[in-house]
Amino acid sequence: MSDESTEPRAAPSRAAVIEAAIRARRSVRGLEGPPLAPAEVESLVALALTAPAPHHTLPWRFAEVTPARRSALAAAMGEAWRADLEADGVPRPQQERALARSRRQVEEAPTLLLGCAVSEGLRVYSDERRARAEWTLATHSFGAGMQNILLAASARGLAAFWISAPLYAPEAVRAALDLDAAWQPQALIALGHPSAAYRPFERPTPDLGTHFVRR
Ligand SMILES: Cc1cc2nc3c(=O)[nH]c(=O)nc-3n(C[C@H](O)[C@H](O)[C@H](O)COP(=O)(O)O)c2cc1C
Repeated sequence: MSDESTEPRAAPSRAAVIEAAIRARRSVRGLEGPPLAPAEVESLVALALTAPAPHHTLPWRFAEVTPARRSALAAAMGEAWRADLEADGVPRPQQERALARSRRQVEEAPTLLLGCAVSEGLRVYSDERRARAEWTLATHSFGAGMQNILLAASARGLAAFWISAPLYAPEAVRAALDLDAAWQPQALIALGHPSAAYRPFERPTPDLGTHFVRR
């Protein structure tokens, strides 16, 4: 008897499809052109805006960084990073390599999105502890919005990865892109089409023994 059933296969459940999409998402740093169409970028941002957020707020903003602004953005972030590397005593050749790689990622991404957090709608506390916690709520939900973009991009066969450099140089980023003072730059997402040669880093098998307890 053959193992191959002639019965039509049942379609995977909605849960199975979503779970497979979550597992399949990877940070793909090998990006090729062309840039995403404006409507595609807008639909990804619209998905980010459905992320869970504190107190029914939408404490995020996104900006597509056009090619005209890329050099200024890379230079602004690079200058801030260079000062940090210098203060850390990182040798010059190592600094140059890191900065050149970062500049290439910003300048060569087919599409580049900047994500910012804003405090609009958040509760205002006079004490530092709760004020910091409230801001953390906004940045938690920012991460959820970013994950929506990463998941949707992956499901569409696009390549994408997170770039955290703006978080370390928010004022420089805001100035380079002429953004509203209320926008707090958090991260970039580079987007494009996956280059055939790129292989993501090996991902460790999920280990609940280390990462999960019941109390
Ligand atoms: C908050 C955050 C910051 C990250 N910053 C960077 C970054 O600056 N550059 C980069 O290449 N990847 C960055 N990543 C991607 C991680 O390196 C990546 O998610 C991790 O290695 C796991 O790989 P995977 O996304 O393929 O599962 C960041 C991810 C997160 C969530």
